[in-house]
Amino acid sequence: MGLGYGVLGIMPNLLTNFGRRFWWGAVLFMTLVLIDGSMNLPAFGQAESPAASGGKLFQMRCFVCHGRDGKGHGPSSNDLAEKPQDFTDGSWQRATPDDQLRKVIQGGGLAVGRSDAMPPNPDLTPDQISALIAYIRSLAKTGG
Ligand code: HEC
Repeated sequence: MGLGYGVLGIMPNLLTNFGRRFWWGAVLFMTLVLIDGSMNLPAFGQAESPAASGGKLFQMRCFVCHGRDGKGHGPSSNDLAEKPQDFTDGSWQRATPDDQLRKVIQGGGLAVGRSDAMPPNPDLTPDQISALIAYIRSLAKTGG
């Protein structure tokens, strides 16, 4: 009984230590983002289409890296170790399922084995992430 308990006890401890570091990083990052964006946080009204509210969110906290047009040339993109994807690229759109977008947006690049240059967004609700995905999908239709 004692052994089984001990083995099971180790796993959550490891996870907790990793989790703590991860969450503190995320909390610090989000605090900076919120301070920066607190003057113009969008209201998620029912009247707006998901793509429209996703677009507002994107122009607030994603454009610095992904660019206003989603092509990956945001003002901070030159400093990144990994270059952001061009969201208007149709073949990338077809090759990338919604599930994958959801994981990357929520958990950051590390959540799908990619670069941590893509930060996690643990504060976003499932609806907000769906809105961002709808917006990203809309870029392929209009973009070149
Ligand atoms: C600090 C810069 C930065 C910010 C802010 C940022 N990203 Fe990213 N993002 C990146 C980078 C760099 C990558 C590419 C990572 C890689 O390929 O290893 C990426 C990758 C992605 C991908 C995956 C693309 C693929 O190839 O599958 C999606 C989707 C994405 N970002 C969406 C978003 C959304 C939505 C936001 C806003 C909530 C956002 N990003 C904010 C830098 C950023």
